[in-house]
Amino acid sequence: MRTHRPVTLGEFIVDKQNEFRYASGELSQLLTSIRLAAKVVNREINKAGLADILGAMGSENVQGEKQMKLDVYANDIFMEALKNLGEVCGVASEEEDDFVIFNDEMHKDSNYVVLMDPLDGSSNIDVNVSVGTIFSIYRRVTPSGTPVKLEDFLQPGNKQVAAGYVVYGSSTMLVYTTGHGVNGFTLDPSIGVFCLSHPNMRVPEDGKIYSVNEGNYVHFPEGVKKYIKYCQENDPATNRPFTSRYIGSLVSDLHRNLLKGGIYFYPRGTKAPNGKLRLLYECNPLAFIIEQAGGKASDGKNRIMDIDPTELHQRVPYFIGSTKMVEKAEEFIQQFGD
Ligand code: AHG
Ligand code: MN
Ligand code: MN
Repeated sequence: MRTHRPVTLGEFIVDKQNEFRYASGELSQLLTSIRLAAKVVNREINKAGLADILGAMGSENVQGEKQMKLDVYANDIFMEALKNLGEVCGVASEEEDDFVIFNDEMHKDSNYVVLMDPLDGSSNIDVNVSVGTIFSIYRRVTPSGTPVKLEDFLQPGNKQVAAGYVVYGSSTMLVYTTGHGVNGFTLDPSIGVFCLSHPNMRVPEDGKIYSVNEGNYVHFPEGVKKYIKYCQENDPATNRPFTSRYIGSLVSDLHRNLLKGGIYFYPRGTKAPNGKLRLLYECNPLAFIIEQAGGKASDGKNRIMDIDPTELHQRVPYFIGSTKMVEKAEEFIQQFGD
């Protein structure tokens, strides 16, 4: 009798590699190394609350090493995993001031650059709330065999060849796209394997969850203030008032809204003229995911993935989620300004 066992991420990557328009094995290798790094980071995050206890027992400094902050740790783990692989010639990370060049014999002919937010929502770690990792993959634009340059990283999001996120939540999931829809895999911790649990993810076209840090309300532009008031109005015919949900961890907020329908936004404010979120490490990869799932991501006026980046750590106002909700927010911005 044929048994039904889950499809593993490793099997899925190999199965789908023909959909990729470039040399197929390269991207598979790359995703495999991200998968491995995600498991290592997951293991550390799971024991985050033990750090002090274990430290007090004297096991913290066995090698004379200081306890590392988890976002630095996650950065190092992902950097290492990507460097151990011949497919990547450079990495830019939210945790590094400048991009890192891999230019030795093993890497110099490789074609991909990776941009990442190794630990998103890191302020949630100490309080046992979900955090994430976001990654974005491009083909380099400068000739292979030469060291990567800034222009390899400053590509618009519409040039991404793959992107994804890991959410370290009540269960750990890896969600990614290569431009052929979005698939989600849940980590089975007992065997350490990601299994396909959410095939072909689609975000509902409309929703009733809005996610924003309303504490910043006074700083928001008029269009955004009016949109928030719209979300709070009583109109049962349009399911309003909407439900307000804000974890403070973009990956987790986005993941919930992707499954249930909703909008997440981080607008500009007087204290943060372009908002807080970073175009290259956070906004573009999640925009690729949401568009592939049938949703929308904009800066309030323009498609996020069409913005030409000018600097690595560039910030942009961000509106992402169910298409109709993002369009409604844009209407308010159009009418009342941002
Ligand atoms: P990071 O931990 O990578 O710096 O990102 C935190 C981001 C994002 O995850 C979250 O939605 C947002 O910052 C929260 O910011 P506020 O506390 O200003 O709402
Ligand atoms: Mn982040
Ligand atoms: Mn981060």
